[in-house]
Amino acid sequence: MSLRIHRSPILHFLSNPTKSDTVASTYQYIEDGGLVVEDGYVVGCLPFTEAQHTYPQAEILQHSNALLMPGFVDTHIHYPQTEMIAAYGEQLLEWLNTYTFPTEQRFTDPEHAQRIAKIFLDELLRAGTTSALVFATVHPTSVDALFTEAAERNLRLIAGKVMMDRHCPDALQDTAQQSYEESKALIARWHNHGRLQYAVTPRFAPTSTRAQLDKAGQLLQEHPSVYLHTHLSENKAEVAWVQSLFPESTGYLDVYDQSNLLGRRSIFAHAIHLEDSEWTRLAETQSGIAFCPTSNLFLGSGLFDLQRANQEDVRVGLGTDIGAGTSFSILETINEAYKVQQLRGDSLSPFHSLYLATLGGAETLDLSEKIGNFETGKEADFIILDRAATPLLDFRLQQCTSLFEELFVFSMLGDDRCIRETWVMGERAHQR
Ligand code: GUN
Ligand code: ZN
Repeated sequence: MSLRIHRSPILHFLSNPTKSDTVASTYQYIEDGGLVVEDGYVVGCLPFTEAQHTYPQAEILQHSNALLMPGFVDTHIHYPQTEMIAAYGEQLLEWLNTYTFPTEQRFTDPEHAQRIAKIFLDELLRAGTTSALVFATVHPTSVDALFTEAAERNLRLIAGKVMMDRHCPDALQDTAQQSYEESKALIARWHNHGRLQYAVTPRFAPTSTRAQLDKAGQLLQEHPSVYLHTHLSENKAEVAWVQSLFPESTGYLDVYDQSNLLGRRSIFAHAIHLEDSEWTRLAETQSGIAFCPTSNLFLGSGLFDLQRANQEDVRVGLGTDIGAGTSFSILETINEAYKVQQLRGDSLSPFHSLYLATLGGAETLDLSEKIGNFETGKEADFIILDRAATPLLDFRLQQCTSLFEELFVFSMLGDDRCIRETWVMGERAHQR
């Protein structure tokens, strides 16, 4: 049995700050806080003196010059693309053909998959990310490799095998029936195995036939608690291609809708170029969006309308979208999200962005009963941010006169250097 009090300034969110007139009621900030963790679960988040009084037998860990927060949630990332991050010069469709498909073919080799899975998970932890929704490749062994390594680290991870039966190299192509059978076997092997869950993962509409999308829908119907993870309306040429491939659909989202792929556990990456009716349909079906600003800027895809998502009550989480995204760091992702919203004429507050990075991501993944903040009973995934990670950050934070300003500075100057420690289910999994 382990009982510990982590002493530090603590910040976590209780609800969406943009949905309340009193922002201060949507988060808890405790200047001298005590996060009490027993056997991997949160049993209290309160002022340190109260924590010490209530749990006199607990071991005390002091975190100095720090900020303790829930671990970050990455709602869209490709682990096989770790080795091709920062590939020059192309937009989505050419980028896929030039860099992505050749790289993903290497995952026919299970040893290669295992090696990349280890590097990938180490990078997540270095970035302070404790949960993620992850694309593997078309090869079932790529999923086995990732889940095996994630289980060893006790991470809460959702992942799935890519389904792709056209418009890709032969070596990456499955068939509708084969993708159904392989996904089904992976669901049986991994879904709800410890902290792991499965996502049915058709890559995107252009690489699946209608028959394959229908098979994806059948998997969701047969396994109602698995996820659906795909891409949607990322790039204008892609949207036009989808329209020509599926003339019977009224739009991109409708292609998925017609195969019954929308719902509370469906997450669509990007969703940049949406029609009004598509916003309505995402809201009606409670589907979620992964906002991936570093990727959207890197591939020149466009500027996501976060304000609209909020107005329409569509849940949004942040995604790095490695390897089109350019950083594993959710802090750097927030930095670019801020700039994307500036270009749209809106200012993304640090309360909103840090909510998106934690509780908002958990809500988008339908996991807020388990992770995302420090309510009693939640799984104790958290990070220790270092206020003096760089001389500039240290200096700049000393000029701050409010929590708002401090958090904004953290999110503009911060990156993996700020992540002093990452804790998973109450155990330290990374230390800088
Ligand atoms: N659309 C289809 N596949 C991909 C991918 O691997 N990355 C991104 N960003 N978009 C996609
Ligand atoms: Zn992606």
